[in-house]
Amino acid sequence: MTHFISPSILSADFGKLKEQIELLNESKADFIHIDVMDGVFVPNISFGFAVIDSVVKYAKKPLDIHLMIVDPDKYIERFASYKPAYLSVHFEASLHLNRTVNFIKSLGVKSGVAVNPHTSISLLDEIVFNSDMILVMSVNPGFGGQKFILNSLLRIQKTKELIKSKCSNALIEVDGGIDKNNIDSILKAGADIIVAGSAVFKSSDIISSVNILRKNFT
Ligand code: DX5
Ligand code: ZN
Repeated sequence: MTHFISPSILSADFGKLKEQIELLNESKADFIHIDVMDGVFVPNISFGFAVIDSVVKYAKKPLDIHLMIVDPDKYIERFASYKPAYLSVHFEASLHLNRTVNFIKSLGVKSGVAVNPHTSISLLDEIVFNSDMILVMSVNPGFGGQKFILNSLLRIQKTKELIKSKCSNALIEVDGGIDKNNIDSILKAGADIIVAGSAVFKSSDIISSVNILRKNFT
């Protein structure tokens, strides 16, 4: 079984962004997770196109863009122009999710659907067949460094069952509060892609913290 790691630059030191991206390039990270927050969908504002342009300039790993914004359709083309590995929109922020997911795919980008901790996984019933990835939030979105919500393990299992029952090929990404102590249970629950912000960037060594997380991959 293949697993992937996607370090979130939300917890990076933005004064040293170039160096930190270069360390990610050297590391065994698979993707670079980009958390875009608009201060409306979530109670925080992260960064926008200018910062992502700089990341793209130095990044040698594909981007994994997580949009925590209202009305994502407005900006899909712009984000897709970065040619990310995945572009995810929130279930709760999309009025016409089927259209949005298909639009992302029509631009040649894999589409992800992100779900907040309070949203029932069963609501993904009609979208899982044409999504490439389900992003299960394991914290309430908006901030790095929060505690993993334990109930997320059950939600990952439910997502796995749903994907199987629909014969979908969607991968499961889990995002929020993941570290070396809980990663094993998250993988066992069915996660394919692990997002890690503070566990990577708040450590003294970015490269070895990615390796420590990867040790749990089988
Ligand atoms: C939260 C973001 C996460 C966050 C993860 O809204 O979507 O990607 O940066 O950070 P940690 O790993 O510190 O919880
Ligand atoms: Zn994220």
